[in-house]
Amino acid sequence: MISFRINEANYAKVTFIKEEKEAILSPISLSFKGEIKTSLVTTNQESVCLHIGIGKEEILEPNQLREIGAYILKEMKKLGQDTFSIDCATLGYPSYSKWLGELVEGLVLGTYELPAYKKERKEQKQWTISLEGIEKEDEKDVLSMISEIVNLTQCVLNARDLVNAPGNKLRPFQFVKEIEIIFKDTDVEVEVLDEMQLKEIKMEALLSVGTSSAYSPYLVVLKYKNNPDTEECMGLVGKGVTCDTGGYCLKPASSMLGIKGDMAGAAAIIETVNALQLNRKKTNVVACIPICENRISKSSLLPGDVINAYDGSTIEILNTDAEGRLILADALSYLIQKEKVSQVLDIATLTGAVVGLLGFSIAGVLCDSEILWKKFEQSAKKAGERYLRIPFYEEHEKMIKSHVADIKNMGESYCGTITAGVFIRYFAKETPWIHLDIAGTAWVDNPVFEYQSKGATGAGITSIYYLCQ
Ligand code: BES
Ligand code: ZN
Ligand code: ZN
Repeated sequence: MISFRINEANYAKVTFIKEEKEAILSPISLSFKGEIKTSLVTTNQESVCLHIGIGKEEILEPNQLREIGAYILKEMKKLGQDTFSIDCATLGYPSYSKWLGELVEGLVLGTYELPAYKKERKEQKQWTISLEGIEKEDEKDVLSMISEIVNLTQCVLNARDLVNAPGNKLRPFQFVKEIEIIFKDTDVEVEVLDEMQLKEIKMEALLSVGTSSAYSPYLVVLKYKNNPDTEECMGLVGKGVTCDTGGYCLKPASSMLGIKGDMAGAAAIIETVNALQLNRKKTNVVACIPICENRISKSSLLPGDVINAYDGSTIEILNTDAEGRLILADALSYLIQKEKVSQVLDIATLTGAVVGLLGFSIAGVLCDSEILWKKFEQSAKKAGERYLRIPFYEEHEKMIKSHVADIKNMGESYCGTITAGVFIRYFAKETPWIHLDIAGTAWVDNPVFEYQSKGATGAGITSIYYLCQ
């Protein structure tokens, strides 16, 4: 946990040092030049001071500020100081709004500790950070800005916890319980459809994947309606496969370790809705989260099977490991048909192909609306997340035409990210649609940025949060 204060002095302090100020510091240390993400500690009777290098640039990139925030926290962890002050004036920026949010975000992200299932449990640290040098007349605005960012970033950390949870601690029914706990006593309406109810409404694409496991599937619907001035409502869908073995098209042992993270899309949507409600944002969203496992059993899908989707279309199964698009298709149809959303976003750890193309720091996007894409692009910029829009055309739609059904669940061995996307778009029909493939960015074995830690990243949340306002 972390809490912020304003203009309180503490024994431990942080000051920022620009690279050109090298000469001033040289009496203390010749080796510390103020380069970005380097630091120097000085102490006297009254204080311990952490000098943080911020490089030569006049204005730092927002992401550099997030990295500096996380760096400060990690250095303070090493120094054993959980209460400290940051001298904001030494950053030399004219207005707080340009950088304070990003710095606070980095500080909060830096507090993350991987949940470890060990005999000895570590106590959760309580951090208290004071921002010094804030003008009296700005205090109120700064405090309310910090409160929004802390809520939002705490939701990113909650999502990391969900995704990092071992598969056997987060079966579909346990995941549903977690969601109910998150939204207990909030304005978010939670509706849970179990296997029986899914059978009644003929949600067969979700059922055909979900009934492969002894742990039955669910569809969770979250409604946050807080803008009576408009009919507009954003539909959100997140892939919630709590374990993806591939089914009969079994994954090789070497790719099995990451399979518990196949619900990162669901975690992102849940925590986005949570952030919106915590910050009382004036907006309307309905989220639909299909939750299941993809396993081998007598009722598992087999290549060659044909199933009926919720919208009445038939799907030929070519590969049982392409399960995400099946459950997303039904969730999307449900949002459009039943909830009548005006636009729809889906997010999923969907294809290995996007990892091959973009690696672990950029996610792939497909979108069929220029307006929606522009708005998302701006939201992602504000969030400091990286996305690349990938094009698609009729030839890609042809790749998933089936001879025996309306559509098939994979194309050829090429264009894997595009064919997965256009499969989902088929079910979005006329509704403006945006699709985020976070297979690469949801999980990092080797963190790319200072504010990440090994494992789940919480990808997508901040961008979708800004998009939804
Ligand atoms: N969950 C996987 C995609 C994935 C791969 C996520 C690597 C994270 C890291 C998805 O269900 C899957 O298995 N996709 C297949 C589709 C193929 C069989 C058409 C893939 O990408 O290999
Ligand atoms: Zn799969
Ligand atoms: Zn999957």
